[in-house]
Amino acid sequence: MKPLTLPPRLLMGPGPINCYPSVLQAMSTQLVGQYDPAMTQTMNEVMALYRRVFNTENQQTLLVDGTSRAGIEAVLISCIEPGDKVLVPVFGRFGHLLAEIAQRAGADVYTIDTEWGRVFDPEQIESAIKRIKPKLLAIVQGDTSTTMLQPLEHIGEICHQHDVLFYSDATASIGGNPFETDNWGLDAVSVGLQKCLGGPSGSAPVTLSERCVDVIKKRHHVEAGIRDAHHTDAEGSRIRSNYFDLSMIMDYWGEERLNHHTEAASMLFCARECAITLLNEGQEAVIHRHKTAGDAMLAGIQAMSLTPFGDLTNKMNNVVGVEIPQQVDGEAIRQQLLCMFNIEIGTSFGPLKGRIWRIGTMGYNARQDAVLHTLQSLETTLRRAGMHLPLGEAVDAAMAVYGQQSHD
Ligand SMILES: Cc1ncc(COP(=O)(O)O)c(C=O)c1O
Repeated sequence: MKPLTLPPRLLMGPGPINCYPSVLQAMSTQLVGQYDPAMTQTMNEVMALYRRVFNTENQQTLLVDGTSRAGIEAVLISCIEPGDKVLVPVFGRFGHLLAEIAQRAGADVYTIDTEWGRVFDPEQIESAIKRIKPKLLAIVQGDTSTTMLQPLEHIGEICHQHDVLFYSDATASIGGNPFETDNWGLDAVSVGLQKCLGGPSGSAPVTLSERCVDVIKKRHHVEAGIRDAHHTDAEGSRIRSNYFDLSMIMDYWGEERLNHHTEAASMLFCARECAITLLNEGQEAVIHRHKTAGDAMLAGIQAMSLTPFGDLTNKMNNVVGVEIPQQVDGEAIRQQLLCMFNIEIGTSFGPLKGRIWRIGTMGYNARQDAVLHTLQSLETTLRRAGMHLPLGEAVDAAMAVYGQQSHD
């Protein structure tokens, strides 16, 4: 077998994207033992860094090992006892995922729906909360399947008024769009690294409010093989997953350092570097970089006379949906972009499968050169497929967003 070499793709889909080079380097750091002070100190550092990423004071801010849905499963299975009511407003594929995971955790799940390409008004959510009286509201912030960003800033207050736990999956949006855990009154948030944080998938940072921790600790049961005399069982029902039992994961990340899994150290190093990269550049600067790249991509798409998808006032900064023109084969265009230009863009799911492409500008790839290469390559590919386009205007429009007007 030869050493692994993969084509040098430019990943401009809805994620994963190319990693920051420093993140790749951090991943290859040599290991130390699980309880080496250097390791536990690094775990503490990661907790402190992700408090800043999440904009929270929550002590319980830690990593769940696994992809983003590991974070979702851990939060939902640890908070939900069988028969609890959970409300999920669904505005795309990942809302359906939250509903499914809550169902598997034994919840009585209620959904409200809106057309894909739209988001919810706080009033719609409040009226559903009043009607259903759930224990927990689970909602996605940025649903990559539709490219929409659900405003969350008024929902926390509603949840607190009605004594509902407020959980959001911000996997696809954190880093590229504002996210304020404490100011918005969130009780639980989970994310992943592979979008605007510029890492690979495989680690799910999670943060939990005191209120949420209390709910979880009521179900605290320590594994038989590692119990000491002082460990007593809490009254609540045992969390139905061992791997995703946040009460035991908190013991592992806490002062007791009670063994649970073996921390995925290389992903820990990687998550640490993702946070440092974000915080060194500055959260606002990174969000601004994503907004500019997203605006430039959108301007280019519109200048090419293609139609963006959905309610643009609620679009995520880091991904745009593009209606696939009727005269071309959407999959063939994606294949040609991949094979001829080494550029990957995405398709979508469910009702949007085959109807839109999704073009991302996130993390390391929220850069002017990546935007321009993608627009120019898409224009060329569409022209060669027989479309008549206003040639050169996409790149000019994107450059204008970057403040570089043409002089003609
Ligand atoms: C909003 C959102 N939630 C969850 C996921 C699932 O992430 P993973 O594939 O890392 O489990 C994704 C992946 O695209 C996502 O965009």
